[in-house]
Amino acid sequence: MTFSTDPNWWKTASIYQIYPKSFCDSGDKGTGDIQGIISKLDYLKLLGIDAIWLTPVYQSPMVDNGYDISDYYAINPDFGTMQDFEQLVAKARQRDIRIIMDIVVNHTSTKHAWFQSALGDKNSPYRDYYIWKDPIDDEVPNNWQSKFGGSAWELDSKTGQYYLHLFAKEQADLNWENPEVRQAVKEVISFWAEKGVDGFRLDVINLISKQQDFPSDDLGDGRRFYTDGPRVHEYLQEISQAVFRKYGSVTVGEMSSTSLEHCQRYSSLDNKELSMVFNFHHLKVDYPNGEKWTKAPFDFIQLKEIFNHWQTGLNGQGWGALFWCNHDQPRVVSRFGDDKKYRVESAKMLGASIHMMQGTPYIYQGEEIGMTNPGYGSISQYRDVESTNMYDIMVNHNGMKSDDMMAILAQKSRDNSRTPMQWNAEEYAGFSKVRPWLEVAENYLEINAAQAVDDPSSVFYFYQQLIALRKQIEVITCGNYQDLYPQHEQIFGYQRQSEKQSLICLNNFYAVEASCSLPETFDATKAKYLLGNYTDLSEQVSMEQVLRPYETRIILLEK
Ligand code: GLC
Repeated sequence: MTFSTDPNWWKTASIYQIYPKSFCDSGDKGTGDIQGIISKLDYLKLLGIDAIWLTPVYQSPMVDNGYDISDYYAINPDFGTMQDFEQLVAKARQRDIRIIMDIVVNHTSTKHAWFQSALGDKNSPYRDYYIWKDPIDDEVPNNWQSKFGGSAWELDSKTGQYYLHLFAKEQADLNWENPEVRQAVKEVISFWAEKGVDGFRLDVINLISKQQDFPSDDLGDGRRFYTDGPRVHEYLQEISQAVFRKYGSVTVGEMSSTSLEHCQRYSSLDNKELSMVFNFHHLKVDYPNGEKWTKAPFDFIQLKEIFNHWQTGLNGQGWGALFWCNHDQPRVVSRFGDDKKYRVESAKMLGASIHMMQGTPYIYQGEEIGMTNPGYGSISQYRDVESTNMYDIMVNHNGMKSDDMMAILAQKSRDNSRTPMQWNAEEYAGFSKVRPWLEVAENYLEINAAQAVDDPSSVFYFYQQLIALRKQIEVITCGNYQDLYPQHEQIFGYQRQSEKQSLICLNNFYAVEASCSLPETFDATKAKYLLGNYTDLSEQVSMEQVLRPYETRIILLEK
């Protein structure tokens, strides 16, 4: 098969994210690998996705599961070989599925040869690849905090200078001011584009340009001095011109704590920087006062406000990624739905509520079968560096009760989404023949892909329909966006309009019935239901809508 030649193919596409360590183990290691992914391509084809975003498979000491790269040109032997990777690209292509690689160039592993040369040697040709500062009053150069807890500076005892790490201390930030670093990044990306990779997901790419006076932050953790920093647009334009445009790559930038104004520029339609952006504001509605490490309900009204801000703000200006889940976020059905009684209904409703927006949807492995948080009860079950660091800080240093922190981790930990993919009801959920690196959620006997594929009313087939609708109904791609009931306490309903079509997506986010009226300007007599998660919708669309627990209804009107 051959890919469509439309340079904007990704505007009607749906992208599936694979976290290889937890996807499928083809050997007996307890960790997933590339051959495991190849063995599941037919499953992904059945779902109907257009591309796979593969989180990092490069050589890495795996302190942050591959986001700490020690060699950009080698495949981690735990995942397979370069031949396996080439086979994956070829076999995916046979099924019309493209591969998007994860590029992590805000930092490298401290085991990378560049850093190894730079450490302890001010004269190393690679010293200036990283960010070094002298101590101030025998202390760290400023008060910036690592996103994984503690200071963002680590001492190089041999030279007496500190290096910057916005993430774990084993992830040293690269110095993008140095043109050699930018040249090295272009070479890495070209190497993978030459291998037939169709696109790139750029890890925390809006953090690459730091304010060069490195001031202490008396108002916060330092992020305002490096988020959407002074030269970030210039750097992205430079990389885009040198590589992305040359290869016609699709690009998606992960934007940490960003703003709409910057994202309009990152993803501007003239294609000067990136194709699209991930922003995370809608996934902070359960962080009261911005605090992640709390156990808290989510703010529904705020969730709608945020979607409205981004949907209307990017329309005609840029392009956004649509997502609830990834390898850093808890499972959406546990977070904004009901992972027990209404698991299937709420998983479908959540899928519909985001897939009918403008943008490119991303589906994270297991989301399409309604996988849940595992509900771990012991800290020894967690593997994630952020979770274990934060447990140590909160419990051993800040005096929080262990039980309280465990309840918070059960809601917020990144391991909630990293549990092994649930393939079937066999031992270890069919993920591996041996005990996996992270425990499987106990509900795998009922929730698994084999069961979902056998059941025409499963979440899987609902996602299959959502993916197909995006290709058939043009208003989903190009229509504008209007929030219909911003103050409604239960219903999230919005309307999309283009010249020829009008689409309304109604979603009840709660377990009790709720009602609303369609807008007076909408001629319900001409409309029809496109899709819902209850099977008994009438032929005729009524102006008064009563939604059952977690019900979703998608209504289309041809003008
Ligand atoms: C991104 C990744 C996350 C990683 C971090 C540092 O946020 O998604 O998993 O820990 O960057 O690379």
